[in-house]
Amino acid sequence: MTVVRIDHIGIAVSSIADALKLYRDVLGLKVAAVETVTEQKVKVAMLPIGDSRIELLESTDSESPIARHIEKRGEGIHHLALGVQDIGETLRMLKKKGVPLIDNEPRRGAGGSKMAFLHPKGTKVLLEVVEH
Ligand code: CO
Repeated sequence: MTVVRIDHIGIAVSSIADALKLYRDVLGLKVAAVETVTEQKVKVAMLPIGDSRIELLESTDSESPIARHIEKRGEGIHHLALGVQDIGETLRMLKKKGVPLIDNEPRRGAGGSKMAFLHPKGTKVLLEVVEH
């Protein structure tokens, strides 16, 4: 398993438009893309920083994981994503080592990536592994 970078930090927000008043207008980050990932009921704004990026996550459905996260914990950091070279190999290795997973198979993520979440009971923070 090769982790190549901190791919992104996912931040749950009630409103991407509101959040951009800080991240774009004050901090000067550029919005590379805004995309709705239907499978995950989320709208994602990607703001690159070097080789990494911040992803602002706005729920598109009151029953989505992001909506539930905001309901329980308020807006804030939702997950940390590690970029890996081969997500299939990564998931096989994690399973073999007994690391609890939310996603046993890769799912489609933003920007055509393949991603999977590890279970936070094993990792203390919600960790995503992602392959582009
Ligand atoms: Co993510």
